Amino acid sequence: MTKESKGTIGILTGGGDCPGLNAVIRAVVRRADALGYKVLGIKNGWWGLVNGVGEPLTLASIRGILPRGGTILGTSRTNPLKQEEDKKKVLANLKKMKIDYLIAVGGEDTLGVAKYLVTEGVNVVGVPKTIDNDVEGTDQTFGFDTAVSIVTEAIDRLHTTAESHQRVIVVEVMGRHTGWIATMAGLAGGADCILIPEEPKTIDEICDTLKKRHARGPQFSIVVVAEGFKLAGGYQEATKDQKLDQFGHVRLGGIGEILAEEIEDRAGFETRSTVLGHIQRGGSPTAYDRVLGIRYWVRAVDLIEQGKFGSMVCLHGGKITDMPISKALKKLKYVDTELVRTAEIFCG
Ligand code: F6P
Repeated sequence: MTKESKGTIGILTGGGDCPGLNAVIRAVVRRADALGYKVLGIKNGWWGLVNGVGEPLTLASIRGILPRGGTILGTSRTNPLKQEEDKKKVLANLKKMKIDYLIAVGGEDTLGVAKYLVTEGVNVVGVPKTIDNDVEGTDQTFGFDTAVSIVTEAIDRLHTTAESHQRVIVVEVMGRHTGWIATMAGLAGGADCILIPEEPKTIDEICDTLKKRHARGPQFSIVVVAEGFKLAGGYQEATKDQKLDQFGHVRLGGIGEILAEEIEDRAGFETRSTVLGHIQRGGSPTAYDRVLGIRYWVRAVDLIEQGKFGSMVCLHGGKITDMPISKALKKLKYVDTELVRTAEIFCG
């Protein structure tokens, strides 16, 4: 005898991928199956809803994916809100694909589209995910812990080569608007200077910090810089080019190299730069991210069960809870001042 289905849950993963997405896809399928829902995996984020592309997810299709990085569904930075025609396609495809409920996993951009769909009467629930950890509504997004671990290990490795060659090494890490990864990994890895978008500094301030340290004895330093860091005095972020993605973001990159050249010229220390880039988003998730992702998704399916649409699951003081997506997206979550001050104690 076949179980009667309570309806179909569509799942999509949008924006930059991060470790832990497969762990959560597995969790939603398991939870939905236990509660009597079917699950449809939507391909490549919002692109899949604009183009009507998805595939049924079953217990068999999710077997073995828990430790795998990336997302078996694929992802993209497609923004269906850019064109009226695409908005209509999304709504039409939701009907055509017989999706009764939708779980959107992403950062501010993906969840921004989910927020719009709520106003169109779509039964959406949001799950916050980004290695940048900048979604205001939650203490932590999954993917962040893995990225911090990867960067910390890189800083440990860079220490030995910096010390051997008596060099300054500038490590550029991800963090478009906020410096969560730089601050946490910088603290964990014992960086000598941490530069984040929230706290612009002049090149003289940076060189003074390093000169003081070298005058004290050590003849090497590690500088961790978030890609979105701006030099004080009205400078812009360093960018790869001026092209914008569909959400209006420019591709950042290059601040590490700029700083390395300036430090070598002005402070006179031999300096190298390293960009960690997408290594921070790749590979297997930490145990923490797997568990956080699983807890989010179990709650997301429960929110559907309770009819609490327009909500986003979140972590507050160690407990999984929820809040309206609209409230969660009001502003970005910047690095806590207490954390910034703590990091400063170890700089220089
Ligand atoms: O997902 C967030 C993020 O990792 C940012 O830190 C970074 O600026 C951006 O994605 C890079 O995006 P892409 O993978 O499209 O180059």
